[in-house]
Order: sequence, then C-alpha cells, then structure tokens
Amino acid sequence: MEIFHSPKELKDFLKDKNKTIGFVPTMGALHDGHISLFKKARSENEIVVASVFLNPTQFGENEDLDKYPRNDERDIRIARICEVDALFMPKPEEIYDKNEPLIKAPEKLATILEGKTRPGHFDGVLRVLNKLFNIVKPTKAYFGKKDTQQLAIVENMVRTFFMDIEIVPCDIIRESDGLAISSRNAYLSEEDKLYALKISQSLAKAGAMIKKGELSTNSIKTQMLSILEPLEIDYVAITNRRFEPLDKIELDNTFILVAANVGQTRLIDNLWV
Ligand code: PAJ
Repeated sequence: MEIFHSPKELKDFLKDKNKTIGFVPTMGALHDGHISLFKKARSENEIVVASVFLNPTQFGENEDLDKYPRNDERDIRIARICEVDALFMPKPEEIYDKNEPLIKAPEKLATILEGKTRPGHFDGVLRVLNKLFNIVKPTKAYFGKKDTQQLAIVENMVRTFFMDIEIVPCDIIRESDGLAISSRNAYLSEEDKLYALKISQSLAKAGAMIKKGELSTNSIKTQMLSILEPLEIDYVAITNRRFEPLDKIELDNTFILVAANVGQTRLIDNLWV
C-alpha cells in the first residue's frame, strides 16, 4: 500500500493507469463500518483508494472537530490489511485555498434533519468530496447507509454535476447488540452504550411493527418515542426516499431516521423499509 499526503502525488500515481478505481472517503478512526466499504470496493475494482481526512469544513463551531478520535498509525494498519492500494492522508492546507469557489448543498435536502441541527454541514461535505472526486477520479465511490442523508446529497451532486462516478450505497454495520458502529461510539461509557442501544432498538421495533402489517407512521413513532424516552431526542422522522414526511409506510420507499444525544454524544441511525 502506498501512502500519499499531497494531491499531486496521488494524481501522479493514478495517472494513465486505465484501471477501474474504487474510492472510499473517510475521516479516519477506522472501524468495521469503514472496513465493510473497503472490502466491497476491493471486490469490485482493480485499484482501491481510501482517504483519511478529518474535514474541518463540515464541522460547526461548537462541534467535536478538536476531540474527534484520531489514530493515523492504526488507520494505516487497517487500510493495509484491507488491501487498499493507495491511502490519501492530506493536511487541510493541501486541500483548501483561501480563494476558491464554494459549493452549496440544495436547501431542500440540506436544511432538514441533520442539516437543521448542523447548518452548513452538508456544504462542507460536498466541498471536500468535490475535491476528492477530482483528485481520485473514481469509477465507483462507496458510502454507508448509516449516513443516509449524506448519501442522498452526494448522489444528487454526482447526478446534477454530470460526474462519471457510480455511488454505491453500503449496508449499516452494527455491533452484535444492534448498536450502529460509529467513530463517535468511542466517546461512550459502558453505561452510555446501554442508553445508545435504545436507538437501534426503536428502529427494530418499527421494523417488527411494519412486518406485522402496521402502516400508520403515527403509531410507529409513538412506540419508538416510548423506547427513546430517556434520551435527548433530536428527531424521529418517517419519510419517503425524498425525505418528505409520510402518514403511511410505503414499502421500498421509506426511511425511518433517528438522531439523539447520549450525554454529549450525538448519534444517528436509520432503517430503510
Ligand atoms: P466517516 O464518518 O468517517 O464515514 C465514512 C464512510 O463510512 C461514510 O460513507 C459512512 O456512511 C460510512 N460508515 C460509517 N459508519 C458506518 C457503519 N456502521 N456501517 C456502514 N457504513 C458506515 O462520512 C464521512 O466520514 C464524511 O462525511 C466524508 C464522506 C468522508 C466526507 O468528509
């Protein structure tokens, strides 16, 4: 595995290779969720590129940029084991310029749910991905359903900017108890984890109700809220695939999305129905 710190070095490495490139962008603190993306990329492409870049522009002023877990050595080991060919670990000054055109995520998608609590977050995500896509020029790029709204906003950019990239959605990887794996789980104490479990439990309950034939989103939400009650809930939303609220579940066209705080830690999870 080769490690690159500057965009130019990585571009030179990839130049004229004429091979399919699978790209997995990450912010590091790699875990089984990221690993599942690396494996899928490895199985579908001739070259696998991953990035570890803690992107400052997607964090709000009061968010956790400064305390976000970092472990470059461990990340390098994991990427190597996963047979990543090129690992890109740039510094912010190699990515950003004081004078550059800015990209804005479409309001309809980016000011609801995550975007409501985290204004500007998706602008920062698109800002960095636009650059990373230009550097790597991937055939396919891999994104987790864990961040469903991010996935939709990235798909929208790729489609509307006519980028020749296939975005591949990847299933959510969970702990054996159901907790969706996240770099931010590192902030949780054992007790916090028991509370955090209520998020996946509420989604499992929703899934079970739908399996039994319940279609009323009100009834499902009520049950979910009773499970989530001890947490500081940001939102429980039941929407179609365009993130518009639904009264009735539409099979193969529904997202159930939860965001809640466990102590100081904001966690998200969701279910595709
Ligand atoms: P990060 O949070 O590191 O996540 C990188 C990728 O891993 C994202 O596509 C995310 O959805 C996926 N992922 C995280 N946890 C997962 C899980 N439990 N199961 C499956 N996939 C999971 O998302 C970002 O970084 C950044 O916003 C980024 C896209 C890199 C832009 O800076």
